[in-house]
Amino acid sequence: MKLKAFSILVTLFFLLFFIIYPTSVLAETVKDGSKIFTVHCAGCHPNGNNIIRRGKNLKLRALKRNKVDNLDAIINLVTYGKNNMSAYQETLTQNEIKVVSQYVLEQAINNWKN
Ligand code: HEC
Repeated sequence: MKLKAFSILVTLFFLLFFIIYPTSVLAETVKDGSKIFTVHCAGCHPNGNNIIRRGKNLKLRALKRNKVDNLDAIINLVTYGKNNMSAYQETLTQNEIKVVSQYVLEQAINNWKN
């Protein structure tokens, strides 16, 4: 009887773990992405706009038009920079660049609603 209670407890523990763990990791990525964005990008891209070159904003339509509507293209642009936008390969780690690029793409798809 004791053993049964124990195995139920263990099962519950694992269930809880698998329910909570992935969502907290996801939330962490979003939070970090938005933090990096606020510190390094929002100065020129407030709410996904572009204060220097209006047409080159971070809305999905502009990203599509300028062919930066996928993760690799954004990572590439952020890493090496382009025209008036500086490169971030010395400022951010590869992982930070990936996380912030993911954030930009997610926000573009959400139309910068949050
Ligand atoms: C000094 C101002 C400045 C900062 C800071 C800046 N950008 Fe930019 N960004 C620009 C400019 C200017 C362009 C247009 C480049 C061009 O001529 O294609 C641009 C373009 C982009 C584009 C392509 C948009 C399009 O529609 O073509 C992306 C994506 C982007 N930036 C992401 C970021 C991210 C992510 C960061 C932070 C890590 C960042 N930018 C920081 C100025 C900036």
